[in-house]
Amino acid sequence: MKGVLICGGSGSRLKPLTEITNKSLLPVYDKPLILYPLQVLLDAGITDIAIVTGNEHMDQMAAFLGSGKRFGCTFHYCVQDQPKGIAQALGLTEIFANGESVCAILGDNVFFDDLSPVIKSFKSGTELLLKEVHDPERFGVAEMNNGRVVSIEEKPTKPKSNLAVTGCYVYDNRCYEYIRTMKPSARGELEISDVSRWYVELGEAHATILEKEWVDAGTFESLFRAAELVRQQKR
Ligand code: DAU
Repeated sequence: MKGVLICGGSGSRLKPLTEITNKSLLPVYDKPLILYPLQVLLDAGITDIAIVTGNEHMDQMAAFLGSGKRFGCTFHYCVQDQPKGIAQALGLTEIFANGESVCAILGDNVFFDDLSPVIKSFKSGTELLLKEVHDPERFGVAEMNNGRVVSIEEKPTKPKSNLAVTGCYVYDNRCYEYIRTMKPSARGELEISDVSRWYVELGEAHATILEKEWVDAGTFESLFRAAELVRQQKR
């Protein structure tokens, strides 16, 4: 299985912090944000990892991460010229994936559960990681029935559940075939929720509900919360 860290986008909700640097390089307590999702991939034994980011911050990203040698992995860098969606960013890694399945993690997600058993036991279709939240309208939202995912909606105004789809997506290699056929959503992006929904419609979407904290650190409040949780864990 290959790994992908999706770190493009404009980071507009974190301006001015993201004026001259990438969101994933901002500090979360004692480490840059990107090292948290990277550790999830490393813990799952994934050592071939693509970093997708915009051209404006690629230099800093490569300066910080380097070849991967000091993390015991190999990095491949893919430029996303414009932030046309998370699925578009993932689509750029098709040649890198070379027919294998992928574990794609958003560069601003911090997980406190150990995801490695779920990632390592993946066989086919998709494995989604869900988390009960009090503000599901901020996220992709999954509806479950008898342990199966039956629907996924991106930032719905009337969520059908309080289960957020977190930013760790394990897909088999067919995701790339589907991404090639996708059309932009109303906001002009290729939506990752549409990729997951395709697997739901095939009846091949599995899900695990996380027990510990999970933070999408894309806002001032959540970035601060992520740092607090990491600090607490270290005490
Ligand atoms: O964090 C989980 C949520 O992430 C999911 O529940 C949503 O379904 C999913 O759409 C996403 O929502 P966000 O509103 O948090 O997405 P955001 O635009 O903040 O992008 C998430 C990361 O992906 C961020 O680190 C930047 C990167 N990104 C984003 C876009 C739009 C790219 O690399 N390229 C892009 O074109």
